[in-house]
Amino acid sequence: MSSVNECRIIELPKIIDPRGNLSFLEGNSHAPFEIKRTYWIYDVPGGEERGGHSYINNQEFIVALSGSFDIVVDDGTEKKVFSLNRSYYGLYVPNGLWRGMENFSTNSLAFVVASEDYDEKDYIRDYKYFLEKNKI
Ligand code: TYD
Repeated sequence: MSSVNECRIIELPKIIDPRGNLSFLEGNSHAPFEIKRTYWIYDVPGGEERGGHSYINNQEFIVALSGSFDIVVDDGTEKKVFSLNRSYYGLYVPNGLWRGMENFSTNSLAFVVASEDYDEKDYIRDYKYFLEKNKI
């Protein structure tokens, strides 16, 4: 069973340069897993929310490449909210947590790296079922 306390903000390298700054992330390092997939969320209309679900196996590392948004994580007992608003910080989210994304700013860009290939069978989209599964 996962805990919201396993989520952590990880600071990425920032190469400061008068020509423009550069950051990067590597798997098995900044993202604490091997990266299999990336996707990004953009053009989110004001007030919309994404990602109300849990993954059975997929771990993620989420970066606000542009703008800002909040990630709400929930282990069935405790909830935590992480605000991302810098392109050189990422949030590690282990598998097994319920997570939502909300409060997207205009023109925000959420970049996600994932430990697993996309598989709809890896999702739990029913919150009641998620709570049942996480009962001690
Ligand atoms: P979903 O993960 O439910 O979005 P979010 O959690 O951000 O609200 O994905 C929405 C749809 O996009 C899903 O039904 C299938 C598709 N999709 C893929 O085909 N591949 C992917 O890697 C992802 C993340 C989604």
